[in-house]
Amino acid sequence: MATQMTTAAGLEGVVATSSKLCYLDGERGVLAYCGYDIHVLAREATFEEVCYLLWHLRLPTRAELGDLHTEFARARPLPDGVVRLMRSLPDGHAMDAVRTLVSALAHYDPDAGDDSPAAALRKSVRLTAQIGTLVATLGRLSAGGGVIEPDPVLGHAANFLYVLTGERPSALATRAFDVALTLHADHELNASTFAARVAAATLTDLHSAIVAGVATLKGPLHGGANAEVMKLLLAIGEDADDDRVDATIRKMLAAKKKVPGFGHRVYRTEDPRATHLRQMSRDLGEQAHNRRWFDMSQRIETVMLDETGIPANVDFYSASTYHTLGIALDLFTPIFAVSRVAGWTAHVLEQYANNRLIRPRADYTGPQYPQTFLPLDRRP
Ligand SMILES: CC(C)(COP(=O)(O)OP(=O)(O)OC[C@H]1O[C@@H](n2cnc3c(N)ncnc32)[C@H](O)[C@@H]1OP(=O)(O)O)[C@@H](O)C(=O)NCCC(=O)NCCS
Repeated sequence: MATQMTTAAGLEGVVATSSKLCYLDGERGVLAYCGYDIHVLAREATFEEVCYLLWHLRLPTRAELGDLHTEFARARPLPDGVVRLMRSLPDGHAMDAVRTLVSALAHYDPDAGDDSPAAALRKSVRLTAQIGTLVATLGRLSAGGGVIEPDPVLGHAANFLYVLTGERPSALATRAFDVALTLHADHELNASTFAARVAAATLTDLHSAIVAGVATLKGPLHGGANAEVMKLLLAIGEDADDDRVDATIRKMLAAKKKVPGFGHRVYRTEDPRATHLRQMSRDLGEQAHNRRWFDMSQRIETVMLDETGIPANVDFYSASTYHTLGIALDLFTPIFAVSRVAGWTAHVLEQYANNRLIRPRADYTGPQYPQTFLPLDRRP
């Protein structure tokens, strides 16, 4: 009997696997990691607890969390060879550097060549710890600073800001960044996670699967959107009045351009992550005595809701949040990877644990079969 084949553009609505990691209800705007609502996690948990939850499907005890802090602290410093490679790369898109350097980390991993479940979990912990240092160091070097070693006393969010700036971050900055990491940690079968799972399903190694995730995250329809939002805010200009903001957005819509930071394949209501980032953007703006970027973002959101009814997604208020934290625009998408690596690795571990090669079919729309093959000297 012939297998029944169906097509769905962009695989919309297709269920491609089962997973215990992320519950997503796009109609009601619900997002939960392993059953824990994202609003509760954003309020109560740290990124480290979220990592443990995703890797083990349960929250850690105090002792287990302490062990994870120790493992993260041990793994955070980058191998010298990776820092040398980082310094040698030509200027370019920061995500290209992240892709190359994550790949390079594989060569230095003490478990390289060991694909056992225990080794894959150790690699997940190590890589999650390292990507934070990697992205912060990239930002530091491109701003002309020197390499700063992570501080074993600081948590993951604080370490990132410390290695990036050389200064101990305020409690609000640390909390804002920690919440941003929690909100981005996993999101079911988004494009980069799907790419990582497809790679893992061939039983390639964990680093290779994560490189596929990083490469996929770079695109402006996915992780690249937060940087596009900031470019839009900067193009409108810090001193622009509301009329100018409105006119810019209306012009984009009239030209059928997508406004970055709006719309989602799954959510039909507000992206629950946007709720927290909106608040972060406001709080940080108020602390910095500069609410301009927050106010401009809110104005854009109002115009978008009036004109299209399309709500903001996770990327929209991340842009003003990161900008107010003093983070350079080209680090916005890499920061997404600093967080999403937790979800990618959890999904890869889940894929390995119950694997079947992922190999869909294509609906053939090419020239009619069979074509007559003409030898080279008889072709027109
Ligand atoms: C996220 C995204 C790729 C989802 O795409 P999708 O599920 O394929 O949905 P579509 O692109 O088909 O959009 C459906 C409709 O909404 C409109 N739309 C969707 N997002 C829009 C946006 N950001 N600005 C303006 N219009 C938008 C589309 O033009 C389309 O309208 P039409 O039916 O009249 O042609 C899309 O919303 C987008 O490109 N957003 C901007 C980039 C972004 O923020 N990405 C990060 C996602 S977390």
